[in-house]
Amino acid sequence: MQCQLSLSIDDPGERAAELARVSHTLIRLEIGSLADDIITPLSRLIEEPEEYRHEWEFAIKKRHQGRPDPDDGLIRRDGGPGDEPDERFDRKFVFMYRPRLDWLLTWRGVDRKGYAPLLTACEQLMKRCRIALLPIVQELDVRLPGHQFELHFMNAIMLQQDAIRAIIYDAGHPQGAIAKPHTDRDFLTIQVAESRPGMRFGKARTLYRWSPGTALVFTGKKIAAHTGGEVAALEHDVVETETVGGGRWSLIYFGHITLPAGVTIPHGE
Ligand SMILES: [Fe+2]
Repeated sequence: MQCQLSLSIDDPGERAAELARVSHTLIRLEIGSLADDIITPLSRLIEEPEEYRHEWEFAIKKRHQGRPDPDDGLIRRDGGPGDEPDERFDRKFVFMYRPRLDWLLTWRGVDRKGYAPLLTACEQLMKRCRIALLPIVQELDVRLPGHQFELHFMNAIMLQQDAIRAIIYDAGHPQGAIAKPHTDRDFLTIQVAESRPGMRFGKARTLYRWSPGTALVFTGKKIAAHTGGEVAALEHDVVETETVGGGRWSLIYFGHITLPAGVTIPHGE
């Protein structure tokens, strides 16, 4: 079985077929030192004085439950009142990178200190993810004709809708759920890298174990909406399995597509 996997992992047609069939697939994704190039400066950034950290926080989208809902840059999540009960211990920093972040920092006049390479590393990782997905998206068009996935994927890239998300959980986080079961709001997600296992997927809650050089691709709400449910969005959650050592970190790429007129996705994460 292992041999079969290594023979087909580079075949975008087989990856597309598996995505359409079971909503997830393993791909080849070489990221070199990019995980380190992102996580190391980010770990430094979250130790900066709160005043400086807030300069990296941008509430661009709507407000959520009456509170600002920052969606770009460095976002602190503390759980607490208003959050879902099972996320009350979900204490983490989320770094959302889209190319527009560079402009937002310029617009606000933020002194980047030594953090410019962090943005560069995110941009490079984003390119690798886009390039890895493109042939699979093209093969999805062959297997599920009529949806124009490639066109809508390229549109979303032009609109800078795709994103890199780096999550650093607090050290000493309690064991248990750190992300409740959900499906993503995007087209295809890439679970790029993580410090230790924790992400579980599917009804069987299969624990994903990252092996460097590979990545897990899975489906979100937008492919389900495009296909009228023919392709399902993959349910997943995240659990903390360790309470000692540094906080868990993970790197994720959210690949989006534009939606045809009249097609919408449900609210929620
Ligand atoms: Fe997710």
